[in-house]
Amino acid sequence: MTGPKKEAVCVTGANGFIGTWVVRTLLEKGYTTVHATIFPGTDASHLFTLPGVTDSNLKIYEADILNPEAISRAIDGCQGVFHLASPNTLDDPKDPEKELLIPAVQGTLNVLEAAKKYNVRRVVLTSSISAIVPNPNWPKGKVFDETSWTDLDFCQANKIWYSMSKTLAEKAAWEFAEKSGLDLVSIHPATSLGPFPQPYLNASGAVLQRLLKGSKDTQEHYWLGAVHVQDVAKAQVLLFESPAASGRHLCTNGIYQFAEFAEKVSKLFPEFPIHRFNGETQPGLKACPDAAKRLIDLGLVFTPVEVAVREAVESLKAQGYLGQQNLKS
Ligand SMILES: NC(=O)c1ccc[n+]([C@@H]2O[C@H](COP(=O)([O-])OP(=O)(O)OC[C@H]3O[C@@H](n4cnc5c(N)ncnc54)[C@H](OP(=O)(O)O)[C@@H]3O)[C@@H](O)[C@H]2O)c1
Repeated sequence: MTGPKKEAVCVTGANGFIGTWVVRTLLEKGYTTVHATIFPGTDASHLFTLPGVTDSNLKIYEADILNPEAISRAIDGCQGVFHLASPNTLDDPKDPEKELLIPAVQGTLNVLEAAKKYNVRRVVLTSSISAIVPNPNWPKGKVFDETSWTDLDFCQANKIWYSMSKTLAEKAAWEFAEKSGLDLVSIHPATSLGPFPQPYLNASGAVLQRLLKGSKDTQEHYWLGAVHVQDVAKAQVLLFESPAASGRHLCTNGIYQFAEFAEKVSKLFPEFPIHRFNGETQPGLKACPDAAKRLIDLGLVFTPVEVAVREAVESLKAQGYLGQQNLKS
């Protein structure tokens, strides 16, 4: 803790996996006023068990991000906004427009409009590696970086709706920022892992859970690498607190194949029936150990992926997401 931080900040999607870690990091860093938005009617009780929480430093706002008035109430009085709320599941949507695209894009615009209205100093937008890949036109043999954008036509043709939702939302955000002069920075986390504090399994937790249960899904279009969720949260606060930060920031502890990740998990947890992938799961993906150079240059030190995996698996076990029946006999 570095002494009280008087700027009031708002975190949207605050009771989600990464949102909870952002709230935790802000409280640990001494932020005295954190406005936490949650989808109306959802459980936020775990936020009140976070270290550093008091009667006065955390206030819950029930707000569907598609409701501009509710979002506006939560952002009123804040100097910073961390926008994380966005739909994110592994299951194919029945109605992609309604379930994913509209909440991601219009929700983001509602948050940015409120931020502009209340003269917020900076908005940190949680985009994703899914707004960077898939990009089939990226030069072969070149390491992916923040200049890559997900190919929307490729997504449309291949029904990759989540990546489409994150890409459209981010494009709309940059356009809004440019027109309005709002200070925006974006962060692009890879598959985020670590202890799961929320009372349900989010998409990245489900990727690991399915891998441990023997899934053969290669994550072909959804993978660049993995990152400890605590590093994602720290990076968010770092981006808010670093005046010189601008633009897009890849947040992954290295770029490498999902096959390599599966191998790593299998070595750590040989008792699980993890599939061994033959060859490349992300054809042509160029590996790079320090791909998140922009965050590293700002001072972020990444936690080893093995730690993130170990803590995530222990958390999945403790919450009953990995039954005995899933172990190798
Ligand atoms: N986890 C990763 O590996 C990863 C990687 C890159 C980027 N991201 C991004 O990080 C953010 C957080 O993801 P997460 O992994 O923490 O997922 P999560 O646990 O599912 O959190 C997402 C949160 O957004 C809320 N939300 C969704 N639609 C909403 C709406 N219409 N109004 C209000 N709230 C709404 C969800 O509320 P409900 O509880 O009602 O669903 C949930 O609390 C997302 O923007 C995601 O795209 C995640």
